[in-house]
Amino acid sequence: MAADGALRFPIISVNDANTKHLFDNRYGTGQSTLDGIIRATNRLIAGRTIVVSGYGWCGRGVAMRADGHGGNVIICEVDPLRALEAVMDGYRVMPSVDAAALADIWVTVTGDINVIGPAAFDAMKDGAIVANSGHFNVEIDIPHLRERAVSVREVRPLVEEFALADGRTIYLLADGRLVNLSAAEGHPASVMDMSFANQALSAEYMVQQAACLEPGVHPVPADIDAEIARLKLASMGVTIDTLTAEQELYLSSWQSGTV
Ligand SMILES: NC(=O)c1ccc[n+]([C@@H]2O[C@H](COP(=O)([O-])OP(=O)(O)OC[C@H]3O[C@@H](n4cnc5c(N)ncnc54)[C@H](O)[C@@H]3O)[C@@H](O)[C@H]2O)c1
Repeated sequence: MAADGALRFPIISVNDANTKHLFDNRYGTGQSTLDGIIRATNRLIAGRTIVVSGYGWCGRGVAMRADGHGGNVIICEVDPLRALEAVMDGYRVMPSVDAAALADIWVTVTGDINVIGPAAFDAMKDGAIVANSGHFNVEIDIPHLRERAVSVREVRPLVEEFALADGRTIYLLADGRLVNLSAAEGHPASVMDMSFANQALSAEYMVQQAACLEPGVHPVPADIDAEIARLKLASMGVTIDTLTAEQELYLSSWQSGTV
């Protein structure tokens, strides 16, 4: 909207704050997505192949937690940098059509549309489970799946079984809606506190700066982000070291250490 000149007022991109996406998206979505899949299906993750589409902050969390349960994690990405990070984090990385043939459980966390589409459904193995934890129920091409199914039935709450004409069955969780919110309880309060602190303190900042904030997208001020991290550590009873005056001087100078 800002690029198109359609944004008529200032907004703050809370999701870009470190104390938001590094924690809410990674640890919150990571834990609650696995929680939702497990509650809905009661499947054992250990030894199964878990495909994660999108290796952003949510995808990293889902991959990390699936790995921690003993799953064999495969990442599908479109961004070369993120794909490279996934490779070096120790995951297999491949195109989704190749991953489709291997997936026991496939989770989308991209924010994109039709990430699991007709080609993936063609290649998917019998009994595969598909779920979404991205922002909306468009990441899986559900209209296509419904169209090609010869029968659909609910086998457990929030688990739909699609029988395909070729004899395979595919299971869709929570109608492709956010599985962590539909089948579990979303993120624990102990990670949402930082997201809501970003919203509250950013709202206060906007009120204070109302006279000078131009229409457009503004970051959460760095001091608010750092203060939330400080408060969170304090609330957890964690203390850390502080720089000595000598260290501060050394880190901010170029003279010592370079000659
Ligand atoms: N379930 C929840 O509670 C929850 C919480 C926070 C965010 N979200 C949502 O999760 C989604 C991801 O959030 P994020 O913070 O990880 O975003 P992000 O931008 O950090 O990561 C998204 C990743 O998906 C990749 N991607 C895009 N299209 C793709 C495709 N077709 N195939 C494979 N990869 C593709 C991008 O390259 C990117 O690396 C967003 O839609 C966000 O709104 C959900």
